[in-house]
Amino acid sequence: MVEITRSFEIEVELIDNDHRRLVEIINEITQAIDDDQPEECARLVPDFVAFTKRHFAREEALLEKNGYPQVDKHRRHHASLDDKMKTMEALALNVVDSPAARDTLRKELVFFLMDDVINEDMDFKNFLVNATSKGNETTDE
Ligand SMILES: [Fe+2]
Ligand SMILES: [Fe+2]
Repeated sequence: MVEITRSFEIEVELIDNDHRRLVEIINEITQAIDDDQPEECARLVPDFVAFTKRHFAREEALLEKNGYPQVDKHRRHHASLDDKMKTMEALALNVVDSPAARDTLRKELVFFLMDDVINEDMDFKNFLVNATSKGNETTDE
């Protein structure tokens, strides 16, 4: 089971809720693998990828709205993960027939979520916590 410990919380609700949902989907996928239900696993991976992309868009919009100076860098980081998501979708097509694909997919998914998605967001945590706690979360005057 993957869990978000306190040190991995951004402390901004919209983002933490999305991250928790991503963790939930990963846990459903690994559970399906453990329960020998690869069809379920294959079904869930595209959901995970789709939710991840929606999360990236929401996160970028929030950073933009709050004037995060490195928003373009973070946007490029998200874009750079496209290939990894394609690889995971390709692996998902093989999980029904291949136990090796299941193992690889499980490892890839957990690393992707913890290192590439959640840990990289620590870069903007302080900025965003300050910006939103000042009641300054919109650009409206
Ligand atoms: Fe994120
Ligand atoms: Fe991010």
